[in-house]
This record gives sequence, structure tokens and C-alpha cells, in this order.
Amino acid sequence: MDGESGGTASSTTNGDDPYALANAALDRGGFESDPVETAARLDADDPLSGFADRFSVPGDVLYMDGNSLGPASDAALASLDRVVDEWRELLIGGWTDADPPWFEVGERIGSALAPLVGADPAEVVVGNSITVNVHTLVGTFLDELLAGNGPDRTEHAAADGTWAPGGNPDVDPAVLVNDLDFPSDHYAIRAQLRSRGIDPEEKLRTVESRDGRTIDPADVEAALAEHDDVGIVFMPTALYRSGQLFDVERVARAAHDAGAYAGFDAAHSVGAVPHAFADAGVDFAVWCTYKYLNAGPGSIGALFVAERHHGLTPALAGWWGHEKATQFEMNLTYTPADSAGAWQIGTPPLLAAAPLEGSVETLREAGIERIRAKSLALTDFLIASVDERLPDVSVGTPRDRDARGGHVALEHPDAERLSTALTDRGVVVDFRPPNVVRVCPAAPYTSFADVLEVVDRIEAILETGAHEAYATSEGGVT
Ligand SMILES: Cc1ncc(COP(=O)(O)O)c(C=O)c1O
Repeated sequence: MDGESGGTASSTTNGDDPYALANAALDRGGFESDPVETAARLDADDPLSGFADRFSVPGDVLYMDGNSLGPASDAALASLDRVVDEWRELLIGGWTDADPPWFEVGERIGSALAPLVGADPAEVVVGNSITVNVHTLVGTFLDELLAGNGPDRTEHAAADGTWAPGGNPDVDPAVLVNDLDFPSDHYAIRAQLRSRGIDPEEKLRTVESRDGRTIDPADVEAALAEHDDVGIVFMPTALYRSGQLFDVERVARAAHDAGAYAGFDAAHSVGAVPHAFADAGVDFAVWCTYKYLNAGPGSIGALFVAERHHGLTPALAGWWGHEKATQFEMNLTYTPADSAGAWQIGTPPLLAAAPLEGSVETLREAGIERIRAKSLALTDFLIASVDERLPDVSVGTPRDRDARGGHVALEHPDAERLSTALTDRGVVVDFRPPNVVRVCPAAPYTSFADVLEVVDRIEAILETGAHEAYATSEGGVT
């Protein structure tokens, strides 16, 4: 019967959707009622509102920078305290006698992260940092390609032994990236190409953005059609500047159809957006835990390697990736663990991993689907408010929810000074050259009233010209 069902997740009339009012504001191009009232109703109905009290954000601060460094939480500090106590009390014995033992920390916390990325527990491990993990994983798959092993084109099975661009096994593999990537990834990939005698000027192939903000997935497909030597497609799940969210499954399918592995930098989505890496056919992925996973500054990195690739020898091998059962036999020959654990390298930094255990528990309790629903509502609400009240600010983040990650890029010609003025007024945001203020209303600890307050303060700064009192710097990306 007409009108009885068929509502979508973002249906504006669905009484079960606590965030419908925020979604409606963007869909209708404006607020139906007073935004202050709307924010109050959204906050009152928000099933995640109780989580904010578990995070340490000073009362006078509006923290909109959780996409750079998430705040401390009670659970993260408790798991850190536990490990510090274990160190004090057990000393070296902590590796085996702590409860749980430190020895398998990488695998154990990796298993806890696996549901957030749609993976089996053995496919995720925590270790190293993003940059190091790009080195070891891109290096590993370059080695596979140089040995003639590409992804199976139909079933994604590893190593079919026949990878040869255009039928020529002497052609070196290329890596496909894009020109809006985080720079460190390019540095690492170039180094891995160079160390195999492959010229990055030729073989680091770059998809160019058409608008300086986003990458059109059709352009990734076109690059694959144009160059038959691409052996690895390495893309972000979400761009660090504009926050564009990629269609991981589409990119992975395009890569495999072209005989290339599909790898992702998921730093800007894990913990904010649910992923299904295994089902999407992703070969490998890397991410950090200090952004949306709230594990603290410099906290340990994380990686995913699809099960079909377990058993490969990592490019950067180390004893912590050795098969666990025989690691302490101290053999001089390396036997890789038969899991993603093989891509660990050296002793895990326990104190940089400990907070993650607690923070992941908090996120799992909140539920990644609910986090995503609220995050979209918060960014809908922010974008609708900017559209309505800030005529000199434009939104550089896709309005399409399927293509939007967890933060919003606000563009303004004086973005650097605006961002300093905001930070001076208790709104912590960050500036990304040349013209972007990134605003991240992270779902676990941000309210709709907070978002409104941020817009109020931007409006006040721009109306009074308060930002013009600040100097610009020559500083770059941090
Ligand atoms: C998208 C992305 N990739 C890579 C990195 C580098 O990470 P790391 O310094 O942990 O190696 C960052 C750091 O913020 C990032 O945002």
C-alpha cells in the first residue's frame, strides 16, 4: 500500500530514525523550524548522547579535530593504566603472565578491530605505523608481481603465477595512486619502487582530481584501462582534505578486473564508517588508531591482509611477524605467521597499544552503524547550517552521503586565519592548505548543539572580521 513502507535509512518521516530532522535539513535545503530547537530535539533523541561523558574534552572546548587526534576516554585511560601497573608489578613477566599476556597484543587487539572493518580476526593486526605498513605491504605485493603473481581475476585467489602486463613478463609493475593522497603514502611507495630498481617517475601512476577536491572513480577505471602495467591500485578510503569517501568495492573490483591488487589507506574512515573489506575483495589496508579510534598520540598502527594472502613473506620481515609457536626458538630462518600477524616487524610498543584496547571497546559498545548514522546526521546538520548562514564559506565535501566521510571541509579564502581565530575561541579545528578548515563533529562525543555553536562562532568571526587580526604562516601540512 502507498506510503506504508519503503522509507530509506535517511527518510525524513521515519519516526524510528532519531536523526531524521538533521537529514531533512540538508535534503530540504534548510531548517523547517528553529535550528536551536532542532538541535535540542536531536540531542534529546540521540541514542549515543551518553557517550560524551566518557571522553575527556575540557568543558570550554568544542573539539572538532578528532579526525587528526581523538580525545582520551575513560576506557582508553583504564586500559593504559592496567598495562602500566602490569609493567610495574610483573616486569618482564608481563609478556607471558599479564592477563591477558602482552605477547599476543597485536593479534588480540587486531581481532577486536576486525568487526569494524568487516574482516576475520586473523586478517587484522595492530603494529608499526601507517607509513611503515605502506612500505611493507606495497613492498610485499610488488614482490609478488615481480614473481609473476597477480590477483586471480575471477575469485581473488592469490598468486596465479601468470601476471605479465600485455603478456610481457619483463614489464615492471606500476602502482596507481591519486594526486590528493596523503604525501607520506607516496613517499613510501616511491621508496619501495626505487628499492626494486623501478623508476617511480614512470611507475607511480597518478589519477588526477578534476576539481582539486575529489577523485572520480571513473577516472581510476579509465587509468586502469589506459595502463596495462598497473599491479597495485592504492587508494584512500577517504581523502584527508575533502573527506570524500571512496566506494571501496568499486575500486577493488576495477583493480581486480585489471589484474591489479587493491590496497587502501583507511586512516580517515576506520572508526567513523563501517567497512566490509573481506566482502569487498580488498587485498590489504592500513590505518592509524589515533584519529577516530581515539587511542592517543602516536598510537600503534593497524593493517588488514586478506586471508588468501596469508603465508606470503612480508617485504619488511622481523621477528615479531614470525610464526608465534616457534618465535622464541630463535631460528635464523624466518617463518612468517600464517595470518596478518606476519606483517608485524619488531616488538610492539605496548604503551602505544594499551589505550586502543579500551577505546575500541567503547566504540563497539556505541556500535559502528549507529556511529555512522549519527556522524552523517551531524555533518548533514553542519552543511545545512553553513549553507543557510555562511554565504562566504563553501563546502568542499561531497553532499552525497555515500561519498562523505566523517569530517567537513569548509572552504574560505582566508581559511588559515579563520582556523586560528576559531582555535583561539575554543573551537579546535585544523587548517589544510590552501583554503580548507576541516571540521570534524565526531559522533561519540559531539552534540548537535555543539555543531550549532561552531557555526555561531564562525559567523561571528567572519561578520566582525576578527580573523583579520591574525598572521598567516608559511607552515605546511601536519
Ligand atoms: C591518510 C593518512 N595516511 C598516512 C598518514 C601517516 O601516518 P603515520 O604518521 O602514522 O605513518 C596520515 C597521518 O595523519 C594520514 O592522515
